[in-house]
Amino acid sequence: MQKRTTLTQHLIEEQRANGTIPAELRLLIEVVARACKRIAVSVGKGALGDILGEAGSDNVQGEAQKKLDVIANELLTEANEWGGHLAAMASEEMETIHKIPNRYPKGEYLLLFDPLDGSSNIDVNVSIGTIFSVLKAPADTTNLRPVEEDDFLQPGTAQVAAGYAIYGPQTQLVITVGNGVDIFTLDRELGSWVRTQSDVKIPEDTKEFAINMSNRRHWAAPVKRYVEECEAGKTGPRGKDFNMRWIASMVADVHRILNRGGIFMYPWDAREPEKPGKLRLMYEANPMGFIVEQAGGAATNGHERILSLQPRKLHERVSVVLGSKNEVLRVTQYHQDAT
Ligand code: AHG
Ligand code: MN
Ligand code: MN
Ligand code: MN
Repeated sequence: MQKRTTLTQHLIEEQRANGTIPAELRLLIEVVARACKRIAVSVGKGALGDILGEAGSDNVQGEAQKKLDVIANELLTEANEWGGHLAAMASEEMETIHKIPNRYPKGEYLLLFDPLDGSSNIDVNVSIGTIFSVLKAPADTTNLRPVEEDDFLQPGTAQVAAGYAIYGPQTQLVITVGNGVDIFTLDRELGSWVRTQSDVKIPEDTKEFAINMSNRRHWAAPVKRYVEECEAGKTGPRGKDFNMRWIASMVADVHRILNRGGIFMYPWDAREPEKPGKLRLMYEANPMGFIVEQAGGAATNGHERILSLQPRKLHERVSVVLGSKNEVLRVTQYHQDAT
């Protein structure tokens, strides 16, 4: 029987080898991973667990919250409050930051998360997930002053860790601390995360693009140009046929790209021209951008590297083009040619 490395062993070995996972960060990742196991149990119950359907409330994004959005948010918040590793948390489902209650010690990390990504897929049993991002709290926040929302407004390059869980046929956890990307599969019998892929790399080229085609008439010209060239296939300017996928759970589309290449686009469109895009910078685009770059891919907003963007608001949105490096560079070039 092949000896498998568990998440705990992986994090300890990573600390020994590269010193990039201090004990507090290791605790943080293990606590988040444990909370994702609990979310996976709820997800798996479906109708048997009273977790389907609407919660009857809206979030700060103006989205109708699903019961599982709220459940997953509560599980992650409760799991991370008492450990002493966090200064504060932020979530797609919480309007403002969640400070650590005074009865608990505070730590040096900020945790941001999309507790349930792909909410429109919950009730139809399609893969969904949880996305998280870890930043350091400014040094003077641990005891001199309380954490403020502005302390979260750091560019994606400041992330010390990022990851996502995907609740699909397998329950998997994808992690990076800046030394490549590793994938863990949940061994349900043991209840442990077991490393099943190490140092994952995204192919630099691809024949597969992911975009919500129903928005075509609203796209900007560079996006229309790119997609039409892909559709033209072998006889067109790309000289090859392309396939299209759109799962509408970012975690599932990114996971496919991590495993076999591809390009994912959720660009600006004219439906809400004042918004740069649908996806959120701090807890969707930044963590996924970190993971994709660590796997040798690229992530831009059509014009510049997502991780270099200076956030101005906690829930700000961003246009996303990520995946196989050469395709992302092409789409970004088309945007630059159009300015
Ligand atoms: P969330 O469920 O966390 O709000 O995120 C949904 C996002 C993302 O997961 C997905 O790629 C995108 O919304 C799908 O958008 P459309 O339904 O407009 O295709
Ligand atoms: Mn949502
Ligand atoms: Mn999401
Ligand atoms: Mn969500």
